[in-house]
Amino acid sequence: MKKINIAIDGPASSGKSTVAKILAQHYGYVYTDTGAMYRSITYLALKTGCSLEDESGLVALIDTYPITFAPTETGQDVFVDGTKVTEEIRQPEVTNAVSKVSAYQKVREKLVQQQQKIAENGGVVMDGRDIGTAVLPQAEVKVFLVASVEERAERRYKENQQKGITTSFDTLKKEIEQRDYLDSHREISPLKQADDAVRIDTTGMSITEVVAAIQQIVDQKM
Ligand code: C5P
Repeated sequence: MKKINIAIDGPASSGKSTVAKILAQHYGYVYTDTGAMYRSITYLALKTGCSLEDESGLVALIDTYPITFAPTETGQDVFVDGTKVTEEIRQPEVTNAVSKVSAYQKVREKLVQQQQKIAENGGVVMDGRDIGTAVLPQAEVKVFLVASVEERAERRYKENQQKGITTSFDTLKKEIEQRDYLDSHREISPLKQADDAVRIDTTGMSITEVVAAIQQIVDQKM
């Protein structure tokens, strides 16, 4: 069967990674979490003391520390230079600084190159903000997932509780709004629905329903 690429974009906590992982498993495809790549560089900057104002310093981090993924039973582990950072990159310090790092043109160029290489032979489910518009404009399937900010904050709140992160619901809601604002107003490849993407409002939908809706679109392309 033909191996296609599936691009899933949308704002913070819209359920992209959850459905992308399930779809990748279903089709035997590779799941690529591009947000984890921007988060890894942000994490490295905070850890090594590289200033978030220093674009070339951030680019040097990309060149020095390769980012890799390894599938696990429940999803995927993320490594920088062989060290597992799966949990570290989800901490609030990283989440609240990542939009600054991801706005730099040179940072994006380097990471987009890596993302395009991963998808060059098809068979990839990739989630992010600019997959349908900039990374894989030729992807056979493009989905743009949205949901109300209340529901997204609620989902993130529950996820955080399981991980022992104690940020309040109101703070999370503000942080999500702020990150969406920064991601959609940056100059280079802002968060935006591709003209040919299918928009799915997942407010009130279960994960199973969202996955089924996307599978219907994918199966028509295979
Ligand atoms: O998807 P996630 O919330 O983990 O993404 C973290 C951040 O990485 C986003 O808020 C955005 O600033 C950046 N990002 C991006 N382009 C992508 C994926 C993520 O700019 N394709």
